[in-house]
Amino acid sequence: MVDLSLRNIRKAYADFEILHGIDLDIKSGEFIVFVGPSGCGKSTLLRSIAGLESITSGDLVIDGERMNAVAPSKRGISMVFQSYALYPHMTVYENMAFGLRIAGTPKHEIDARVRKAAAILQLDKYLERLPKALSGGQRQRVAIGRAIVRNPRVFLFDEPLSNLDAALRVATRIEIAKLKQSMPDVTMIYVTHDQVEAMTLADRIVVFKDGYIEQVGTPTELYRKPANLFVAQFIGSPAMNILKSEVVDLQGASMRCRLDCGVSLDIEATQSGLSRGEAISIGIRPENTRIGEGNGTSPVFTGVIDLVEHLGEVQILYVDLPGCSEKFLVKADGESTFARMQDITFTVHHRDIHAFDANGSAVTIR
Ligand SMILES: Nc1ncnc2c1ncn2[C@@H]1O[C@H](COP(=O)(O)OP(=O)(O)OP(=O)(O)O)[C@@H](O)[C@H]1O
Ligand SMILES: [Mg+2]
Repeated sequence: MVDLSLRNIRKAYADFEILHGIDLDIKSGEFIVFVGPSGCGKSTLLRSIAGLESITSGDLVIDGERMNAVAPSKRGISMVFQSYALYPHMTVYENMAFGLRIAGTPKHEIDARVRKAAAILQLDKYLERLPKALSGGQRQRVAIGRAIVRNPRVFLFDEPLSNLDAALRVATRIEIAKLKQSMPDVTMIYVTHDQVEAMTLADRIVVFKDGYIEQVGTPTELYRKPANLFVAQFIGSPAMNILKSEVVDLQGASMRCRLDCGVSLDIEATQSGLSRGEAISIGIRPENTRIGEGNGTSPVFTGVIDLVEHLGEVQILYVDLPGCSEKFLVKADGESTFARMQDITFTVHHRDIHAFDANGSAVTIR
């Protein structure tokens, strides 16, 4: 069991700072997922935690002990990378045992750990095979096995599934979910670009941008209550639609705004400090639209369909709203028939409307 604290971690390469003071507390046994655009510093932070990179300033504390200067092998951390680099001339068993052999672990102990890891990862049948006789997913499981046998206190994964095809990704993701259940005390940090992996595996997700943390929260919190425009558009797929709008009236906790597309909305906002005439952004997720006129209680939007994308179970409609240069995406069921240039009317429930001030910060809506 281990608590992991990052305190004001900065990392620079020469004069160029990549991480700008990262603060994060991770509880024992938590499964934390790092997400963020390419180049925002996720791998750099992971490698700094593992000790593969030095930390420029700040503290890495594991279980109350400052770890900045502790050798990677002494941190109790195992890391699994995107490219799994198994030794091609060694069997699965030998690949998993190798690190322990080098460390001088007794033979019976190695055997017990390798067999336990193989059982967890369902590799028992393949122990005598060479990597070239395994599928990509099985090889990645061997790489995970190699990390498990070290009995890590903290497990770091850097996009471990991104080289696998779609079906294998799903299968291996489920393996990782089971792995988490079988090792409840091990703290895991997992980097991914895959929304489904992030949403399904994480106890908490950390959203990074340009070397800063934008928001930390459970998958549901980030989805329902994004703290700012960036997180709002980063979490969820397709991304949340953003509509330009202006505050036209404020009365107590109630705010009326007029969207550029002509629709007026009444929003119950708890945040004061907004004033009449101020620009705000209204966010609506494609999946929160309901096609039709509704029953009169929800705002009604009208536009013209520019493109229909069939995904089987659902369709994505790219809609031109009057006065808006960007397409508004509507997620519709897969059954109905839609055509290009067709008029479309849809409603959005008040509770599904997000609002952001001119700085991009969420305006808290009751
Ligand atoms: N050894 C290095 N020397 C100089 N700059 C580096 C070095 N390693 C990484 N960087 C820079 O640090 C930034 C963050 O890189 P990092 O690999 O952490 O991003 P990432 O969030 O993992 O991106 P991706 O999602 O593409 O893997 C990038 O701008 C990268 O070019
Ligand atoms: Mg990376």
